[in-house]
Amino acid sequence: MSEDFVRDSIHRLRPYVPGKPIEEVERELGITDIIKMASNENALGPSPRAIEAMRRALNDVALYPDGSCFSLRLAVAKHCDVEPDNLIFGNGSDDIIHMIGLTFLRDEDECVQGDVTFSQYETCAVLNNSCCRMAPVKDFTYDVDAMARLVNEKTKLIFIANPNNPTGTMVAHDEVQRLLDRLPERCVLVMDEAYYEYVERDDYPRSIEWVKQGRNVIVLRTFSKVYALAGLRVGYGIARREIIKYVERVREPFNVNSVAMAGAIASLEDPEQVARSRAFNSAGKRYLYAEFDRMGLKYSPTEANFIWVDVKTDSVQVFKQLLRRGVIVRTGDIFSAPTHIRVTIGTEEQNRRFINALTEVLA
Ligand SMILES: Cc1ncc(COP(=O)(O)O)c(C=O)c1O
Repeated sequence: MSEDFVRDSIHRLRPYVPGKPIEEVERELGITDIIKMASNENALGPSPRAIEAMRRALNDVALYPDGSCFSLRLAVAKHCDVEPDNLIFGNGSDDIIHMIGLTFLRDEDECVQGDVTFSQYETCAVLNNSCCRMAPVKDFTYDVDAMARLVNEKTKLIFIANPNNPTGTMVAHDEVQRLLDRLPERCVLVMDEAYYEYVERDDYPRSIEWVKQGRNVIVLRTFSKVYALAGLRVGYGIARREIIKYVERVREPFNVNSVAMAGAIASLEDPEQVARSRAFNSAGKRYLYAEFDRMGLKYSPTEANFIWVDVKTDSVQVFKQLLRRGVIVRTGDIFSAPTHIRVTIGTEEQNRRFINALTEVLA
């Protein structure tokens, strides 16, 4: 098949590397009792109210979902204190990143992102014949001034994952404000806040204020993390209505399914879900910090539900050894950090099992 069989950009795309699924490890290694601490899922699981609502929604799956997400839209608008037409919904926030690329990027436009960060921003740029300029992180934290220096007349999108994936670090309100104030009118700042409910610091950006001020900011949130609905795929974007109107034009008509909508609405009606998950995450974080300190391993302070830790040796080997002990984590090599791993904070038992396995592997 000749090279020009597909669009040029397809050749430049790097395939997404997901966390290894449990079933795959079972098949490959012939072991059971595996724990996955590789994809920043919420080990506590979804709200019981969400599960009940999803069961009820199954009765109607013969019908197409409400393409306008009417009920979910009202629920999220109330939750975020924005107008319903400030919202767009996606099949996960990944879907919205994809839509943003299709909406805004012309050939030769440029994007700016931190290096290292979530891979989908680069995918979005490359797919649309754009390129991503990478601002190196400082101590695994975004350097917003370095990002601002990469902005030029071709820059269209600036991506900030906050907290960042894979590092868990965050940038404060004033820092992002400084970047925003330096952006030309034609730029759109995408604040990807997939993990924002886990944040403990109080200087976290109040991004929705920028939307209300009419700035070119799109805030992304998801039901995959704190609400533990990753398998359902539902995320949303918040922006001024002029921006939303354009992005809506590229949205697939029924991109959010009816079971997901029911689960998401019921999750918002259970205030315990966030409180419970935050407390559980915070306790797990303190335990893992203490264990890493004991083992002499350096980690980045995390504001999310995962920790980026330097295991001081080849992370691929550590990953393989952990896998044999039934623990799946993520290696840093794909993020150009070959001695780092990223581990999702799990239940008390999972955290203990991970630490015991890591202690054995590093011994
Ligand atoms: C920073 C960041 N943004 C977006 C996503 C995608 O989330 P969703 O499940 O909503 O597509 C992830 C998933 O891990 C993420 O880490």
